[in-house]
Amino acid sequence: MPTTAHPALPTGTVTFLFTDIEGSTRIVQALGDRYREVLAQHHELVRQALAEHDGTEVGTDGDAFFAVFASATDAVAAAVAVQRGLATHSWPDGVAVRVRMGLHTGEGRLSGDDYIGLDVHRAARIASAGHGGQILLSAATTGLVSASLPNGVTLRDLGMHRLKDIEQPEHLSQLSVAGLPDRFPSLRALDVRPTNLPSAMTSFIGRVAEIAELHRLLGQTRLLTLTGPGGTGKTRLALEVARGALDGFEDGVYFVPLDAVRDPGLVASVVAQAIGVAEGGRAADEALLDELANKQLLLVLDNFEQVLPAGELVERLLGSGPDLRILVTRSRSTGSCRSPSPTRARRSRPRRSPSTRRWRCSSNAREPSARGSRSRTGTRQPWPRSACAWTGSHSPSSSRPRG
Ligand SMILES: Nc1ncnc2c1ncn2[C@@H]1O[C@H](COP(=O)(O)OP(=O)(O)O)[C@@H](O)[C@H]1O
Ligand SMILES: [Mg+2]
Repeated sequence: MPTTAHPALPTGTVTFLFTDIEGSTRIVQALGDRYREVLAQHHELVRQALAEHDGTEVGTDGDAFFAVFASATDAVAAAVAVQRGLATHSWPDGVAVRVRMGLHTGEGRLSGDDYIGLDVHRAARIASAGHGGQILLSAATTGLVSASLPNGVTLRDLGMHRLKDIEQPEHLSQLSVAGLPDRFPSLRALDVRPTNLPSAMTSFIGRVAEIAELHRLLGQTRLLTLTGPGGTGKTRLALEVARGALDGFEDGVYFVPLDAVRDPGLVASVVAQAIGVAEGGRAADEALLDELANKQLLLVLDNFEQVLPAGELVERLLGSGPDLRILVTRSRSTGSCRSPSPTRARRSRPRRSPSTRRWRCSSNAREPSARGSRSRTGTRQPWPRSACAWTGSHSPSSSRPRG
């Protein structure tokens, strides 16, 4: 941003707002020199909203603004005020001035008069993923403002998206403002693969070797089971692996928490709900089998230990198409963690992550069900499968082996 308007920039946890006029070249072509007038009016509207909601202008670049707020709620109020102002303003020659906006809350670190760090880039990428008139929020900002939205403003969950040049996918939400358009084309994010993966509220620590090993195994096997005592990080690890696997699954990656499910007969219905399959009068398992046939999709079935007989459903699902993969987590007491394959176990012991006490994987293990699969046509279909029995430490950053 070439121009800097205010020297007093907040640091610590701040909310960044990026805005940008959509199709400004088109407006310049339509208005010629009168575009300057449009730009001045646009700038005045944005600056007025910043002043009214305690925002600080970090800089402008042509038709784009970069502003910062000490409060996420103020940032949202300012963004809404700008959109309302733009929508009701009468523009020269009736041109439509539509502005895309992105908000993200993160660490405000200054280097001179400029913010540095990934959070600034994330905020800018979020803004550029949107369309004119749209206000996009990162998961961090959404979490802070969801309980205190301005009147007439609601949140719409847009799911996980890969943003350009940013490795960790972002869970995006849109602000819907009463009276303003709230339906937009697909985001301009790098990847709009469908997923219901929850966004992580805390940073993921360590487990570098385990993640690499699980990605390797997921590339080779269609059913992968993570087994270990409760509280050792299986769910967190499975989610991390699932996020990293988004690129490889055209039809998406879905997380199905089964911790509240006691009846194996309900698993099909819970999975169907998680991936948005309408049962439409059919049995849930039939609806799922139809939906998943020929889908390139990863299912994460978390806390399978209470619904083990549903292993039969897992087998039928895997039999429904060649491109479905399933990652299961399952709790088991420390004593029963044994690797059926000592050779393999040695090879897969992590070298770089000191946090894991033991990490053992074996292929051809019998998880979560002991039998081979039978396809809907009745033929047995063996598929490669792996089970990983592990005992991680409760603290991912701990380097002291326990137990
Ligand atoms: N690698 C990690 N980085 C940060 N937090 C972690 C990590 N692994 C586990 N945790 C945290 O530890 C707690 C227990 O992990 P969880 O995945 O729920 O264990 P499990 O599924 O084995 O019962 C959770 O609060 C989780 O967020
Ligand atoms: Mg768990």
